[in-house]
Amino acid sequence: MAYLNWSDDLETGIEMVDQDHRVLVDLLNQAHDCIGAGEETATLGSVLHALVDYTEYHFAREERLMQAARYPELPAHRELHQRLARQARDIRGRYAAQPDSVNAREVMEFLRTWLIDHILKQDFRYRPAVTAHPEAVRLASAITFDGNRPAAVNEDGPPVPEPVDFRAHSVLVVDDNPNFQIILRTILKGLGCPSVVLADSASAGLTALESHTPTLMLVDWRMDGMDGLGFVREARRRGIAVPIVMISGYSEPGFDKTAQAAGVDAFLEKPITARNLVDTVSRAVGPG
Ligand SMILES: [Fe+2]
Ligand SMILES: [Fe+2]
Repeated sequence: MAYLNWSDDLETGIEMVDQDHRVLVDLLNQAHDCIGAGEETATLGSVLHALVDYTEYHFAREERLMQAARYPELPAHRELHQRLARQARDIRGRYAAQPDSVNAREVMEFLRTWLIDHILKQDFRYRPAVTAHPEAVRLASAITFDGNRPAAVNEDGPPVPEPVDFRAHSVLVVDDNPNFQIILRTILKGLGCPSVVLADSASAGLTALESHTPTLMLVDWRMDGMDGLGFVREARRRGIAVPIVMISGYSEPGFDKTAQAAGVDAFLEKPITARNLVDTVSRAVGPG
């Protein structure tokens, strides 16, 4: 059963806002499931990253919306957003540094309370202003999930590629961890990806390829039965030439070369964030 059920009384009636709120509720449920299932640290870490990233994105959109609708209480609302974002970043930081120091259930309770409270008490207040300025929604919708990126400069590491436009991609995710599947789907949907197909094993992935050719594949390395490398080799043997990103929790010496020889274009390390997903996929897809 879901930890937090979406209900009609949470609907503001502003489609963009309701969509964002539903994604946040999904992520919260996901984090709760990870805790209940005693998931590996990297999975819960990835959910927390996705939660913080998506929260900041949603706040940016909402603030643009309120500004465009000339909502007079924007400064106070923005201050609340900043406080919540700081608290959420702090939790994520503490969890990354020392997972045991974070009482996961308390964190869930905190996140649930602020989400519900904030929607019902604060977000509903700007509704009349937005309804009176319908053009505000169009302006706020222009903010993308990976928006507000700093300039593409990375002095030490490899060059940061132009971010890929996920709205033009249909993605096949092959991963046997249901929590991870949903994190990836949530991030991809948040990035505007119109089609995300989930397969929970290599053989299910190969079956999916028979009826649908994606433009990008995200493949877990470690899976029961045929592993990710076996899947990639078989897909390449069938002539599927689309970019493939392999998700790996850790690396072994020489693994990169073996995987590249099998047909893998790039590697995504856990815990994943929206930002490292965008950067890795952009590298795999290449310019143009
Ligand atoms: Fe909101
Ligand atoms: Fe808000």
